[in-house]
Parts: sequence; C-alpha cells; structure tokens
Amino acid sequence: MNKPLETTSVMDDIDNALAAARQKYIESHPASRDAHNAAQKFMPGGNTRTVLYHDPFPLRVVKGSNSKLTDADGHEFLNLLGEYTAGLFGHNHPEIRKAIDQALDQGINLSAHNLHEIRLADLVCQRFPSIERVRFTNSGTEANLMAISTARYVSGRSKVMVFDGGYHGGLLYFGNGGIPINAPFDYLLGSYNDIETTRALIRSNQDDLACILVEPMMGSAGCIPGKVEFLEMLRSEADRCEAIVIFDEVMTSRLSGGGAQKLFDVMPDMTTLGKYIGGGMSFGAFGGRSDIMEIFNPESQPGIPHAGTFNNNSLSMAAGCAAMGRVFTPELADALHHRGEDLRNELNRIANKMQVSLQFTGIGSLMNLHATAESINCPADLKSSDPRIKQLVFFDLLESGYYIAPRGFIALMLSITDQDLQGFCNAFEQVISKRKPVLET
Ligand SMILES: Cc1ncc(COP(=O)(O)O)c(C=O)c1O
Repeated sequence: MNKPLETTSVMDDIDNALAAARQKYIESHPASRDAHNAAQKFMPGGNTRTVLYHDPFPLRVVKGSNSKLTDADGHEFLNLLGEYTAGLFGHNHPEIRKAIDQALDQGINLSAHNLHEIRLADLVCQRFPSIERVRFTNSGTEANLMAISTARYVSGRSKVMVFDGGYHGGLLYFGNGGIPINAPFDYLLGSYNDIETTRALIRSNQDDLACILVEPMMGSAGCIPGKVEFLEMLRSEADRCEAIVIFDEVMTSRLSGGGAQKLFDVMPDMTTLGKYIGGGMSFGAFGGRSDIMEIFNPESQPGIPHAGTFNNNSLSMAAGCAAMGRVFTPELADALHHRGEDLRNELNRIANKMQVSLQFTGIGSLMNLHATAESINCPADLKSSDPRIKQLVFFDLLESGYYIAPRGFIALMLSITDQDLQGFCNAFEQVISKRKPVLET
C-alpha cells in the first residue's frame, strides 16, 4: 500500500509547498476534475454535501472495497476517513450485506410497522444507559432538531444552550458563532470545557433554559474531548434549574460499549444518535427518559405526532439490527477504542520524536490532526493551528495512498488491519521528514 513519496527538493515556504502539492493533485486527477466541471452545471459548486468539498476540486470516488477506495483516476487509497464515522463497518461487511439482501427479498417500502424496528429499538435501549425509549429519524440533524423541540415543549421554556464551535447538523452549526441558516431557536452560546463561564451563563438564564445540547467530545470542531468535570457541571447545573441535558452522541456513541456517556459515567436526559448505527444506511435516532419520550405515544395524551416517511425504512432497520446486534458488539466497541488509543499515541510519538508542532487529539477510534503543540481544550485554542499545514499533509498522505479528511479527521473502520495502521504511521513519518523545514517555520 505504501507508495514511496516522490523526492522533490524540500521547499521551505508553506505557500510554495502547498501550491506545488495542489498542482501535483491537479495533474494526477484529471477525471476528478472533469467530473467536478460536469457537476457544476447542475449543483452549486458541483456539490451536495459541503464537508466533502476541498480545493482545488474534490476527489471523486468510484468504488469502495473492504477498507480501500478507488478514485475516478484509478488511484487506490486506504480509507481512514470512514465516512466521517458512518462507515464503521468498511465498504462491504458480509453480515450487513446479508441483512440488506434479506430485507430486499422481503420487499421495500412496506407501508406499515415492520419487525426490524422493534429489534433495533431494543438493541439501542440496551446499549446506551440513558435511553429508556427511542424514536428513529433519517439523520443526526433531524434527531437533534427533534430532541431540542421535545425539550422545549416538555420544559415549557425557550432557550437552547449550545457551544461555540459545536456541530449538531446542517441546521445546527456553531462554528464562528453560527451560520445564517441555522434553525431559528433561541440559542445561548457556551464555551466548551470552560466551567466557570458556562456555569454563570446557565445560572443567569436558569428560568428560561430548556436544554443544554452538548457533544461529549466535539467532533467536527477537531476531536476535542470534554472534561469529565465540565460534563458533570452541566449535569448538576441542569438538575438545579430543571433543564434537560441532551448528549449529541451521533459521533461519540462508538467510543465504548455504551457510548461516551458510559465512558465518562455522566448521564444525560436525552441522547441523539446517527451515522454508523444503521449499518451505513441513512439513520438517526433520539431517545432518553421514558417520561419525556412519552409525549410521542399515540395511545395517550398529548400524543404529539412525530412523522417521517423513512423513519422505519426496512433497509436501515435491518442493517442496523445486524450492525448493532451481530457485528459491533459492546466488546468490539471497547476493542476498537483501544486500537484507536494506540494509533493516536503512536502518531503523537512520531510527531514528538520529529520535533514538529503537530498533534492528534481525540478519543479511541476518532482523532484529528492539528498544526499546533499547544494544549487544546476548546475550538478557540486552535487559532494558532495553520490550516495550510493540514492541507499539505492531506495532499501528501493522499499521494502516499492514505485518505484522511482535508481537515485532518480520522475515523477508524473495523475492516482496517494492524498492518494498514503500521503502513499509515510509516507514511505519516515520511511526510513529516519530507516537510520538516516547512513544519518548523
Ligand atoms: C456530532 C454530530 N451531530 C450531528 C450530526 C449530523 O448528522 P447527519 O449528517 O446524519 O445529519 C453530525 C454529523 O457529522 C455530527 O457529527
């Protein structure tokens, strides 16, 4: 897998190095470029999922096999991005394939309750300690919108605390304070891991605060783990003012056999899920205390409707049963966590040994590269991390046969072998030695 990096003369300027890496990418990806040009005629910027766009044009993938991707130009890569956590099972897990084939044999669009949804709800409730009752959605975004709206209705209050830099979906993105098309809730913006400031903000809004929506580890913001004391403070302040704590575990639920809530031993009132739980099919879920979720019971008052044509679609439900019942057992979740810890430690050991200002933060199988040696507790701590360095590392790793997110994110898939990871560590070390003069500037 490890292709030797071309030995170019080492450039000592980041802009020049990046321009050269970009040029090489352009020259070696003509089919991706042509596809991008074609896509621009029908989609704004040729794109329908912003995170996948990168400069100068995005990579176009035509095939996935086990842990490998093939792009439109025939290059093969090890997929370390893992579909931003949804691709946990690799590209063709036989158990998941079997479950989908069987569901297809039973016919799609069944127009009724099916049997798979009961089993999957059972598996989810057994797995995540705070979830007594669950309802399914089509995405993590939808799950969070439902959880917030539920908390506002149940509490009779309006304000929603989120955190600067947090990401909870397409309409709930709080990078740089928030995007203009966010769902129009009444937000309070807390500072992640900042106990005193956040406590004061909660207390000064205690009569209006409906809920606190928090990622136990900030994912999109760069795999910044929450401090246990911070999450415990949120729990106790919410109890004090009777607000509802919602853990967004769309990404973090894979971090242990019972999600981040079990790992940290802090229980929310509600939890949202998504990504890999549907075996790689479209999926979302929100759940929690049965007294809260009871508002959706059609057999009792108030019987609030929660609609969604595809909420119980048989492919997601069947694939989810295989994924959570037979494949990603709690034991395997714990084992993957340890493999991820080992990988992150090894990558950081290499960066330390080479004396460059690079580090990976994260927990278990989720990690993110940052171009700073400073300690990182919240997104504001990343201000000194030069984004050009991450782009450079992205292009260099791609050239070596390893695909990570352009922003430096890695989500391990179960199909990745120890040998694959060893190859990746070697490639990372090669990239650092090639770029050392630039990384030291
Ligand atoms: C923490 C978190 N919440 C919610 C979402 C949104 O999920 P989806 O893309 O399924 O809408 C994401 C997606 O990346 C996420 O990382």
